[in-house]
Amino acid sequence: MKFFVDTADTAEIAALAATGLVDGVTTNPSLIHKSGRNFLEVIKEIAALTPGPVSAEVVALSVDEMLREADVLRKLGDNICIKVPLTLDGLTVCRRLADEGVTVNVTLCFSANQALLAAKAGAAFISPFVGRLDDIGFDGMTLIEDIRTIYDNYDFGTEILVASVRHPVHVLQAAKLGADVATMPPSVIRALAHHPLTDKGLATFAEDWLKTGQSIV
Ligand code: E4P
Repeated sequence: MKFFVDTADTAEIAALAATGLVDGVTTNPSLIHKSGRNFLEVIKEIAALTPGPVSAEVVALSVDEMLREADVLRKLGDNICIKVPLTLDGLTVCRRLADEGVTVNVTLCFSANQALLAAKAGAAFISPFVGRLDDIGFDGMTLIEDIRTIYDNYDFGTEILVASVRHPVHVLQAAKLGADVATMPPSVIRALAHHPLTDKGLATFAEDWLKTGQSIV
């Protein structure tokens, strides 16, 4: 399972990339706003921080305008993945870009039928937003299960990129269902490594090691 970081905070991306656990980055207009930085500058910087795909989202809604924006974004790095919304126009753009060999991430997916359309449009990634579904009383993970079944039924190569991940249990469930990627806020990636028994065990080992009076180096 691949791990993407869902942030436009370059310091966080650099720190997590150093762990070797990061396979890519996703951003969206809200994350760019949160960073307080220039969109094109920050995407270029992120693209240089990781060899993995970096999703940069178009903001226009018409086919022609989305294609124009995609042209600008594509030039920011060899690993730029163009993120388009799950609308008929977004899917049209997805097909056009995919035919040119561009990696496309179709975002804001909330139903299995939408995911089916994205696969048919040649998307490299489909982004179902599990947290936002949970927020309104639906079960985000049922959507992941349905998409997995549909994609496997027809051998679609589109990767399921679980998005809107809010906590480590989402990651566990996504992994058990065979999702290809989870994109997570930095805090969730860090939380995956944490266990109170690990901390407690380390404290005991440190205490006992001190009592031996030895050193390794
Ligand atoms: C994914 O690409 C999106 O950027 C992100 O996961 C949305 O998450 P949110 O619902 O927490 O805003």
